[in-house]
Amino acid sequence: MIGIIVHAGAGNWNVENGHLEEAVRACEAAVAAGQAILLNGGSALDAVEAAVHVLEDCPVLDAGRGSYPNTDGAVEMDALIMDGRSLKLGAIAAIQRVRHPISLARRVMTDSGHHFLVGAGADAFADSIGFPRCDVSELLVGEDLVKYRQKEAQAALGDTVGAVALDAAGDLAAATSTGGTANKRPGRVGDSPLVGCGAYADNWTAAVSATGYGEALMRVVISKRVCDFVGTGLSAGSACEAAIRVLEERTEGDGGLIAIDARGQIGFAFNTQAMPHAYAVGDGPIVSGR
Ligand code: GLY
Repeated sequence: MIGIIVHAGAGNWNVENGHLEEAVRACEAAVAAGQAILLNGGSALDAVEAAVHVLEDCPVLDAGRGSYPNTDGAVEMDALIMDGRSLKLGAIAAIQRVRHPISLARRVMTDSGHHFLVGAGADAFADSIGFPRCDVSELLVGEDLVKYRQKEAQAALGDTVGAVALDAAGDLAAATSTGGTANKRPGRVGDSPLVGCGAYADNWTAAVSATGYGEALMRVVISKRVCDFVGTGLSAGSACEAAIRVLEERTEGDGGLIAIDARGQIGFAFNTQAMPHAYAVGDGPIVSGR
C-alpha cells in the first residue's frame, strides 16, 4: 500500500483573493507528483521531495518562491527531510537564494556528513556542491517583491508546506519547507527544520509534517508527539487531533498536522481557519480539502 498527504500551511487564509483555492490546487498537483513516483516503485523520500518542489514553486505559499521576507528584506528559509527507515535526516536553516530548500536539505542528509547546517555554513555547503542559486527577487512575488524593493515587510501568518508518504517497500518519509513567519527577525528559526518539531518519520510508527506558529509548535515537539501517540495505538487521525489538543492546552498555539502511519492510514488536524491539503492512497483518487 502506498500513500501520500501534503499541506500548504495552517493559518488565517484570505478566502476572497483566490489564494486559498490556488493553494488547494497546488496541493492536488503536489500529491499527483508524489503519487506517480510511488506507483512507479519510487521511494517515499523521492515522493515527498517532488511534492514539496511543487509547493515551493507555488507563489501563494510561504516556501521557496513566495517566501516572506524578514525585517531586513532578506529571504531566509528553513527545511527538513527525514527518512523513516534509517532515521537519517537533513536540515537547513536561514538559507538564502535557493529555489528548492527541500532538495538542499536532502543533500545535507546524503552529502554533508552532518544532519543540520545553518546560515553561512549552509550557503557554503550549497556552493561547494554546485547547488543552483537564485536572486532574492525570484523568491519574492507580488506585494512582497514590491515591498522588498521598498524595504518594507508585510504582516501575515506563515503558510509552511509539507508532505509525508509511505512507499511500496514500507518506508516512510517526511518533508517540511518554509520561509518562516512574516516580519521575523534576521536569524529567527522556527519549528520547521527542527527534528521532531517541523517533521518526523519513523517506520515503526508514522511520518508527520507540522505547520503553524513555530514558537509554539517547537515547545511541544509536535511531530514526534504524533508518532508517539501512533505508537500507543492511536490512528494517524486521532494522533494528530490529540497533538493539536496538547498544542492548544500547553501553549495556546495555532497550527496543523498531516500524518501517514506504517499501514498507510492518513490523518490530519488543525485549529486554524483553514489548512489546504490533499492526499491519495494506492492508485485511488486525489482528495483535497481546506
Ligand atoms: N511553522 C513555520 C515557522 O514558524 O517558521
